[in-house]
Amino acid sequence: MREIRINLDRIRENYEVLRRVARPAKVMAVVKADGYGHGALQVAKSLDHDVDYFGVADISEAVKLREAGIKAPIMAWIFNSLEDLELAKQHQIEVGISSFHHLQLLNQVDQLQLHLKVDTGLSRNGFTVNDLPEAIEGFMQVIESNKHFAKGIFTHLSNTNENEDNSQFEVFETAIEYARGKGVEFELAHASASNATLSYPSKHYDMVRCGIALYGLSPDGRDVSGLPLEPAMSVYSEVINIKRVPAQTGVSYDFRYRTEKETTLVLVPFGYADGIPRAAEGLKVIINGQKFTQVGRVAMDQFVVDVGDSEIAIGDRVEIISDENPVSQISTRAGTINYEIVTKMGSRPNRIYGGD
Ligand SMILES: Cc1ncc(COP(=O)(O)O)c(C=O)c1O
Repeated sequence: MREIRINLDRIRENYEVLRRVARPAKVMAVVKADGYGHGALQVAKSLDHDVDYFGVADISEAVKLREAGIKAPIMAWIFNSLEDLELAKQHQIEVGISSFHHLQLLNQVDQLQLHLKVDTGLSRNGFTVNDLPEAIEGFMQVIESNKHFAKGIFTHLSNTNENEDNSQFEVFETAIEYARGKGVEFELAHASASNATLSYPSKHYDMVRCGIALYGLSPDGRDVSGLPLEPAMSVYSEVINIKRVPAQTGVSYDFRYRTEKETTLVLVPFGYADGIPRAAEGLKVIINGQKFTQVGRVAMDQFVVDVGDSEIAIGDRVEIISDENPVSQISTRAGTINYEIVTKMGSRPNRIYGGD
């Protein structure tokens, strides 16, 4: 009745496309936030035999992957405690080091693989250029005294525009040179997420970190139509009630929609608790190959579609997200980005994993 289908073949194929784009750089498959709502474990298992790296935000996300038997290198970049670092050591999770607090914690644990985060302009975590002298000194000290390993140096872009991105790359390269001057050589430099991977072929460095493109979706504002990336998530429901109603019939909470003339309303069990934002009111759905408009408030569990005089039967399949009805039509209506729609799909719909 409420169904989210994940095509793992497409995710594997998208990974190969990104590999071809990034070559010779490695490609980190970013599977944080439950694989952008696609199921981190399932996605990681289907890629694990031939992936360069997995990336997650939290250590707990990485631990779940290890506990599920994932063998590939995993990097996590958001944490705050010594317990997190102890878990990272226990489960061989590489960590992003992005604050002086992190450097202090590194004195209390040993033998971790570290990626130094440079804040090149995003103003989130990471060491700024001004921090660098003290940060590199502290970094060298913990490496020596606690047998950590300088695995990588990385940054993250704001994707504001080409000028801003280039300034960030410049700062990043200055930081790499500065560290090198101090005798710290990193095995992997990495800066580009999906958008920059596709936009700046000369800035792949040693690795790129791709999330949204792995799932076949376009990074905000970037046209990927020239690339064979294919969306891996599709979302379906079915018609469970049909009503012929007269003109001026109010529909759903607040009567934000009233029928203009006699028409047929169908009820679809998929609501905002399942992942269709209330703000997406007016979204399109496809029933029997025909596009219709959802009308009135999207409720927690259901929404209504005005199908006019079309012949629709109970049990007919409703395409909410599919190749013909992309996620972008929902995100645009809701005034958000495709990332937010897929990561917020609810836990109630049945998730079905398959291939082509
Ligand atoms: C540090 C970092 N790298 C890479 C990514 C992947 O970004 P995208 O999904 O745009 O490829 C993210 C996601 O937010 C991130 O936080």
